[in-house]
Amino acid sequence: LVDKAMAAGATMDCEDLLFSYKGILYPTTVCSPEVFKALECFEARREDVILAGYPKSGTNWAGQILTDLVTTAAENTEDETNSLNDEELEEFPYLEIGDTEKYQRMEKLSSRRVILTHLFPHNLPESIFKNKAKILVLVRNPKDVATSFYHFTNDMSPLPSYATWDDFFTAFMTGKMPWGSYFDYICEWSKHVDEENVMTITYEELKENRALGVKKIAEFFGLLLTEEELQAVTDRSGFQAMKENAQKTHGAFGNILFRKGSVSDWKNLFTEDQNQEMDKTFEECLAKTKLGAKIKY
Ligand code: A3P
Repeated sequence: LVDKAMAAGATMDCEDLLFSYKGILYPTTVCSPEVFKALECFEARREDVILAGYPKSGTNWAGQILTDLVTTAAENTEDETNSLNDEELEEFPYLEIGDTEKYQRMEKLSSRRVILTHLFPHNLPESIFKNKAKILVLVRNPKDVATSFYHFTNDMSPLPSYATWDDFFTAFMTGKMPWGSYFDYICEWSKHVDEENVMTITYEELKENRALGVKKIAEFFGLLLTEEELQAVTDRSGFQAMKENAQKTHGAFGNILFRKGSVSDWKNLFTEDQNQEMDKTFEECLAKTKLGAKIKY
């Protein structure tokens, strides 16, 4: 992927590095229309453990919590439907990133499969909703998402880079960027929050009380762990612990991913005008939506 991005040229116009699928833009270096087509036939299972989050909302963090919970619960039970082996963990966890054969390989995986995605609900395979797979929807306040995304996209060669923070801010506010508009994403997922197989959690509440978040997530997915095991999952998912392990879990990408892990870093980037513009857009587009109401703002 990095080679492909390098070949595309780091200074290339952002729009040349994006393609549109069902109205949302995706980066050509990590996604493709062929893979999206293959994804339409993906058959979700009721036992699948799905995490949906806009990029930079803490999806790798919540993803580690989920994988750790599923793996620990699997060790506690003889039930085959809970098993998960090391080979399976190697499949790249983001549903929309991979090759066209990925979904055939995923069919051979035993349950419970932990699946991460940045997709809008209308770009997900229908079977996820039809088969009532449980979905954890993770949200983070838009100012920190934009800040995190700006640093990440400029440091990751497979993604478009932006000459200035102001350029990125404009792209973020108009939604003309990889994985589409944050505001539309929250609006679309808001329509699903009352479904019984959907749970929501915010980055900020996980930061405030990780132990409680881990416990709630385990309960929602019906994962049986002792108090000690829940505490161990909580300890392993602290920012420092994950950062120290990043080389092992994420390779070179780990250094870029585990950046600050804090709330309100946006204050180091936003101008007062940008702050007011985002507040206004949030108020107009999200404040009255079900997910918007949960975002600490
Ligand atoms: P920052 O760039 O603000 O530091 P994603 O996984 O969706 O790409 O999100 C990445 C963001 O989650 C980064 O935010 C990263 O530091 C943060 N993150 C990752 N692990 C975390 C943890 N254990 N605790 C808090 N934040 C974490």
